[in-house]
Amino acid sequence: MSNGDNRREFLIKVGIGGGLAALAGQGIASLRSLVPNVSYDAPTTVKLGPPAEFPDGLKFLPDERLFVFRDGNTFHAISAVCTHLGCTVRAEALSQPETKTVDGKPLRLTHRFLCPCHGSKYSGDGGNISGPAPKPLAWCHLSLAPDDGQLVADLARPVERDFRLTVG
Ligand code: FES
Repeated sequence: MSNGDNRREFLIKVGIGGGLAALAGQGIASLRSLVPNVSYDAPTTVKLGPPAEFPDGLKFLPDERLFVFRDGNTFHAISAVCTHLGCTVRAEALSQPETKTVDGKPLRLTHRFLCPCHGSKYSGDGGNISGPAPKPLAWCHLSLAPDDGQLVADLARPVERDFRLTVG
């Protein structure tokens, strides 16, 4: 066998080997795609602290981007995430608090909300009033932690605007 024949044979073997390796790689990749991915998403419930640490009126929690309202022994929470493009809205105190019936329940309104990005305005119950925001601010589920009684918000669980958590 000449040197040329040896070289050709070698190149053919390398070519076949490379092709087989590529096919094996694809096979492994397609088998892997059949195995569900484990989700490492952050938990959506977060402890906010004991109810006693919340003053009457409003407390803003910047990490959770959440407004927690307290009226006596009842609590509700409104997301600070603008429904336009997700900026954090600011709360502005009303000169005169007012009580409004929202979804059949009285609600004391102490603030309204303004978005600094494109000027959307929301009423104190989160309703979108003007600007590009397409829908109201979300209300978020609150509960008490069974182990230590802290207020717990479920940031991925929207609730209707008649939701109240009453703390005994
Ligand atoms: S992100 Fe709030 S108005 Fe655009």
